[in-house]
Amino acid sequence: SIPVIVDCDPGHDDVFALWLAAGHPALDLRAVTTVGGNVPIEHTSRNARIVLSVAGVVDVPVAAGASGPLERPLVTAEWIHGENGLGGPALPEPTVPLDPRTATELMSDVLEASDEPVAIIATGPITNVAALIRARPDLVPRIREVVWMGGSTERGNATPYAEFNALVDPEALDLVLRSGIRFTMVGLNVTHLALVTPAVRARLADVGTRTSAFGDELLEFFCRTNDEVFGMPDGPLHDPVAVAVLADPGVVELRRTRLDIELVGTETTGATSVDFDGMLGREPNAWVAVGLDVDRFWAGLTDAVSRLA
Ligand code: BDR
Ligand code: CA
Repeated sequence: SIPVIVDCDPGHDDVFALWLAAGHPALDLRAVTTVGGNVPIEHTSRNARIVLSVAGVVDVPVAAGASGPLERPLVTAEWIHGENGLGGPALPEPTVPLDPRTATELMSDVLEASDEPVAIIATGPITNVAALIRARPDLVPRIREVVWMGGSTERGNATPYAEFNALVDPEALDLVLRSGIRFTMVGLNVTHLALVTPAVRARLADVGTRTSAFGDELLEFFCRTNDEVFGMPDGPLHDPVAVAVLADPGVVELRRTRLDIELVGTETTGATSVDFDGMLGREPNAWVAVGLDVDRFWAGLTDAVSRLA
């Protein structure tokens, strides 16, 4: 199985990314790190610990990272995720403790301890990965690849052309793209295929565990806010699609291309520029998700959840 670190900002869809990474037999979840994103870092760190506790995943260290972007003030998304970031269910006290290390320290320790390169899956603003590369460039060869949920080949969801994670910390994304680490972007163009339809919800609820019941309460809230904000009552469950790239190769179709991030635009800051046609004449530097086997994706997620508590 592939050793992975999940860097996240839970966030309803981040929860399912964590559960997919923890429950899928093809992945070996070595650590979880958190970042300020959907809600401030105090909430995302606590939320990660809560949802791992609910799922019975008590042996994976969780460390807090950056409270905000490298160079900008934090923008949050309470209107989708609620004030505490996990609107919907009553939240139990986490049994999983907060690791005393910083995210950079925990990631570094995991990379150094592993005898094979470790993949990093980032499902929030990519600040912590950028901070790690800055602090420990010597560890770059130990990073197998970075798979990130964010960006889009098309339109945005935070501004007309910027997706939320890209908009929050574009400088971090730019730094990661320049690092030379293998990079995969899983953007809205594909995550908007991972729609939580009533049938998907029923299938997950049918798992019949503590974890699936908690997940169902999350999805009820998430679908309601997505309906209110975007007119999408079948909310797109973005973040686990990035995990699926590694858990089940082939479930997400990838295309090699040039990817750049707009750092300063009058209207387009945070827009991802995906040069499929090579118009800019620059070397390809990334893989970009362009398709999703929707049924296989939900089957894998449902199966992973069924392996948890
Ligand atoms: C991304 O933004 C966040 O609100 C979600 O958790 C996801 O990572 C989607 O644009
Ligand atoms: Ca997220």
